Amino acid sequence: MIRAAALLTLVAACGRPWVPVATEADAARTNTALGDLQRGRELLIGNCSGCHLTPSPRDHRAADWPNEVAEMRERSKLTADEVALITQYLTAFADQR
Ligand code: HEC
Repeated sequence: MIRAAALLTLVAACGRPWVPVATEADAARTNTALGDLQRGRELLIGNCSGCHLTPSPRDHRAADWPNEVAEMRERSKLTADEVALITQYLTAFADQR
């Protein structure tokens, strides 16, 4: 936990997008399976980083992420399941508005 926090601070300091690693606390907070959040993060980094920097959950409000990901879906050739996991991850760490 402490190492992850230090790493996040480092990444933020370098000006890279904030793409946090999900913890049990995040899974509990958002009522999702930890494995789903982790998979969503991997899919995001693996599929959404080629054309622009990896989108950060903080780039959009939680309520707006489903549409944002849907718009990008064709460009990334993702399945519906993969889109759902990416959306779940982004929403979990977005501003909850
Ligand atoms: C094949 C290239 C490509 C891939 C893959 C891609 N994007 Fe994009 N994305 C773009 C381009 C080009 C833009 C800017 C122009 C636009 O908005 O149409 C953009 C813009 C965005 C924006 C900003 C839109 C806004 O309203 O400011 C978000 C958010 C985004 N992408 C998320 C994603 C996500 C999430 C994925 C993975 C599911 C993804 N992108 C995959 C090309 C890509």
